[in-house]
Amino acid sequence: MIKKLTLGLMFFAASSLFAESAITAIKVSNSIDLSKTKPNDAIWSKAKANEVICYPQTTIKFNDKKANELNAQNKAKAANISAIYNAHSLAFKITWNDATQNIQLPQKSDIYGDGVAVQFAQKFDDPKKLPYIGMGSKDREVLIYLQKAVEQYFEPNKDIEHQVSRDNTNAFGDDLKKYDAAVKALAINEYHKVFVGEGFRSMTQVRSDYGKLGMDMSYKGGKWSAIFTKPMSDEYVDISKAGAIPASFALWDGDKLGRDGLKYLSSWVAVKFQGKKGGDALVDELTSEPAGDVQAGEAQVKAMCASCHRFADQNAAPAAMGPALYNIGGYSTSAYLAESIKEPNAVVVPGYNRNAHPSFSWYSVDDNGTRTTTMPPMMNDDKSIADAVAYLKTLKAEVEK
Ligand code: HEC
Repeated sequence: MIKKLTLGLMFFAASSLFAESAITAIKVSNSIDLSKTKPNDAIWSKAKANEVICYPQTTIKFNDKKANELNAQNKAKAANISAIYNAHSLAFKITWNDATQNIQLPQKSDIYGDGVAVQFAQKFDDPKKLPYIGMGSKDREVLIYLQKAVEQYFEPNKDIEHQVSRDNTNAFGDDLKKYDAAVKALAINEYHKVFVGEGFRSMTQVRSDYGKLGMDMSYKGGKWSAIFTKPMSDEYVDISKAGAIPASFALWDGDKLGRDGLKYLSSWVAVKFQGKKGGDALVDELTSEPAGDVQAGEAQVKAMCASCHRFADQNAAPAAMGPALYNIGGYSTSAYLAESIKEPNAVVVPGYNRNAHPSFSWYSVDDNGTRTTTMPPMMNDDKSIADAVAYLKTLKAEVEK
């Protein structure tokens, strides 16, 4: 009996190394306005929380020595994510542990707030060709909902009466409470934004109607809880007809000077709509384990790729000769990894990379702005690629306890 149990646990531990489960969005009544949901609302008890791991994004080295030092030993962070939907919207609730609450102050440029984002793929009909996970790439756009913890502030000229300092109100007791409540209701949170991304440097803000976007972030007892609501259909991404969609999640830790690309990032996660048909191929693609042989893959990858790429246990390549692959298995899908090896030009890791090796740029740009990677196609036969992918999928940091 004991033996059986141990075996079962071992199997579980081994398989959970790879297997990622899908999130099921639970259907709720159409009469509920999901954009008004708060993390503690009873409605969330209907949805199961799924653990989604967000890995330190190590592709591009950040241009800030102190930040790099603070983040050198980063482990991955686990977020708990649940989802509900109705005919109008899809809502996510995301909670994660963070020992320090960091709030960005409007006047300070060196203090960074904690933050969280959800990324949607504009096109997801081919689960093997999802957008590049770090903010999309050419012809594979993403829609990003982002919120950051910032100090609340007032929109100028909206309400003069409540713009005086709290100490100058002459209000006491209940009056002061009323004053505080009025101030809170009027304050806006600057960092509720929605972007379309086609690569690191092409973020276009598409909505700025802050406060109406159905986002919310609150901190209590060492834990953040955030809500994101997306309309089932808008001009950027229509998810109303899908049985399942890909979504990915990102976290920023202001305490470690996290901002922009310095974040924790999940891979594409399948989100299934309870009671809807379709999307099986997507769910399969994002939840199945790679079939290749990890050991054979490791031997090949170390022999063929280590001259340009760094691995956690092998740093022979000059710094930033190519993207560091420390966490590539955490935030990349198997299909993306296979594509990167076979057709390196399908997705050229986008953006201007300030830290690229001075005599070795990652890509060249022609007169039309088309980028051509300097990585040669590495392998052609399916077995070698499958083995390499199985190994690359193991490359990821441990999860922080
Ligand atoms: C000649 C140098 C070179 C070699 C050899 C090389 N790569 Fe690359 N690789 C690059 C460069 C440069 C990029 C970034 C530009 C791009 O996206 O193609 C890259 C990008 C990648 C990416 C995407 C990284 C990301 O962050 O999304 C993966 C995965 C990858 N390579 C895997 C491999 C594997 C596996 C091998 C060996 C089979 C290999 N590379 C061999 C230079 C190289």
